[in-house]
Amino acid sequence: MNQKAELYDTLFSQLKSLITSDENQISNMANFTAAVKSSFGFLWVGFYMVQNEHLILGPFQGPVACTRIRKNKGVCGASWARKETIIANNVHDFTGHIACSGEANSEIVVPIVIEDEIFGVLDIDSTELNYFDEVDQKWLEKICKWFATVIS
Ligand code: SME
Repeated sequence: MNQKAELYDTLFSQLKSLITSDENQISNMANFTAAVKSSFGFLWVGFYMVQNEHLILGPFQGPVACTRIRKNKGVCGASWARKETIIANNVHDFTGHIACSGEANSEIVVPIVIEDEIFGVLDIDSTELNYFDEVDQKWLEKICKWFATVIS
């Protein structure tokens, strides 16, 4: 396991002890973002939740962020529309990227799917260019799949 995979492995164990289906959904999402941010030191970690035709800002850790994103807009709206994880190696090259913080340089967005419907997305921003790779994608998809079952 490389260093990143080891961090995800430890994070996943921490999340499993921290987050339970007995707790409130918002409380679980809030602790999820805090645990991910403190493990990796990312610039921004948060959820956007599908509400009617928009993604609405949910619990997050990091600088203030835009509160509402339309389908297909930005990295989050694209991930929602395509129902798949999107990695933007350089957000400045991603057409339609929504810049909430000038410090973000790369981003990963992972859909949270509950009973075949998109509940929302997990969005993570890094200050480093090209930070996210297949290791992040594999682990975050695994963690989000587990998380969807717990909060559903
Ligand atoms: N950059 C995102 C918007 C949300 S912020 O990163 C917190 C996007 O393009 O969808």
